[in-house]
Amino acid sequence: MLYARGGWRALRRCASLPRAVRLRVREALGAREPAEAVRVQGWVRSVRSQKEVLFLHINDGSSLESLQVVADPSLEKRDLTFGSAVEVQGKLVKSPHKMQNMELQAETINVVGPCDIWSFPLKMRERHPLEYVRQFPHLRCRNNTLGALLRIRSEATASIHSFFQDNGYVHIHTPIITSNDCEGAGELFQIEDSVEKSHFFNVPAFLTVSGQLHLEVMAGAFTHVFTFGPTFRAENSQSRRHLAEFYMVEAELSFTESLQDIMQVMEDLFKTVTSTVLSKCPRDVELFHKYIAPAQKGRLEQMLKHKFMIISYSEAVEILKQAPQTFTFKPEWGCDLQTEHEKYLVKHCGDVPVFVVNYPYDLKPFYMRDNEDGPQHTVAAVDLLVPGVGELCGGSLREERLPFLESRLQRLGLTDAYQWYLDLRKFGSVPHGGFGMGFERYLQYILGVDNIKDVIPFPRFSHSCLL
Ligand code: 4AD
Ligand code: MG
Repeated sequence: MLYARGGWRALRRCASLPRAVRLRVREALGAREPAEAVRVQGWVRSVRSQKEVLFLHINDGSSLESLQVVADPSLEKRDLTFGSAVEVQGKLVKSPHKMQNMELQAETINVVGPCDIWSFPLKMRERHPLEYVRQFPHLRCRNNTLGALLRIRSEATASIHSFFQDNGYVHIHTPIITSNDCEGAGELFQIEDSVEKSHFFNVPAFLTVSGQLHLEVMAGAFTHVFTFGPTFRAENSQSRRHLAEFYMVEAELSFTESLQDIMQVMEDLFKTVTSTVLSKCPRDVELFHKYIAPAQKGRLEQMLKHKFMIISYSEAVEILKQAPQTFTFKPEWGCDLQTEHEKYLVKHCGDVPVFVVNYPYDLKPFYMRDNEDGPQHTVAAVDLLVPGVGELCGGSLREERLPFLESRLQRLGLTDAYQWYLDLRKFGSVPHGGFGMGFERYLQYILGVDNIKDVIPFPRFSHSCLL
């Protein structure tokens, strides 16, 4: 009975509404035909009042372009300002302006939520620098650049999922809370009971640094798997390419024949997702390539046409040793490649993405496959370096041979902790491998954004306030 009465009231409410069709700004701008009665909702990006006509631009996040509203000056109100939320109803007509297809001739303008323009940190028609808007993580998505970035981020996410689904991979949600330190680098956030100050789960537990080991479990049943989720690293780095919380795309493939199999997937993923983003978000990408990183467009187009380069770690060290410049960290076989080295190598190879393969055994985590070479002992590891950013992906063949893995874990004192991982080598072990790609670094590269904090939805703006 109650339900029926509620339903009746809802029906009456609907019936009393005018029959205007509600359109998103993107739909209104792309409409082929004029329409008599439409409703558009959004936030005011500009107000220009002339003697005989009032112009507004309305944006609702569905596109970079705003919809022009043309109104009689009598519809102007005090609270119809930049930043206010409005609902406009009227006629959708062909625009006389070359730059846009349609405009809305307003019949009513309703201010849904006013905006105090004096204290609102964004200003009308100002191109705010990224550093400025970073101070307002709760408001910066109303700015064009961040709006474009977040639409691109959303499209790239969908495209990554499609790439793997289309190629027969099964998506796995790997745990966020885990007890393994996959990379063995000790960059872990530990989970504790905040009152008792003790382990929450009785054993040490951490926020994941990588879903790889869990993916290896699943690759032992599904052959091809991937995950795309949040990853955490307790690196107190103020660098322009490190975050404490970031997203990583990871894939794991069984029955691999060589490192080449892994590199092929990395390159295909990179090229497919980039082409999709360029074709699905042309205006949003153009904003970055026009105002933030001119020249990036040409570089990307070149990159999409050519095969990525491959060099070995040993060759990389030789190139660095012969470099005419001096580095802060002297290049030496057996030492990690630093950002300055990665950037030099990419430049040296002609500003294109470069795979560096076969790194020193002692530099890399326990799971990487022993190349059994010498005297310079290496593992089948691969890093993908890209211009401007440096390391974008890291991957390897995994050690699938039980005796090799057992002896490595024993030397590291990790045998007990990784019994389950050793099991995988006892029950139907196959050659396999995979990689991880930093999603924010990927966005930094394709858009030419210098600081990684400008490609995430919410930058942390101070230690006392984590939004
Ligand atoms: O090279 P990493 O540490 O590799 C792994 O974690 C492997 N277990 C992945 C795998 O094989 N499944 O991390 C992979 C990528 C890096 O190449 C880098 O792009 C990104 O993740 N990354 C970070 N991005 C932002 N901030 C940080 N602190 C990052 N640390 C790594
Ligand atoms: Mg790495």
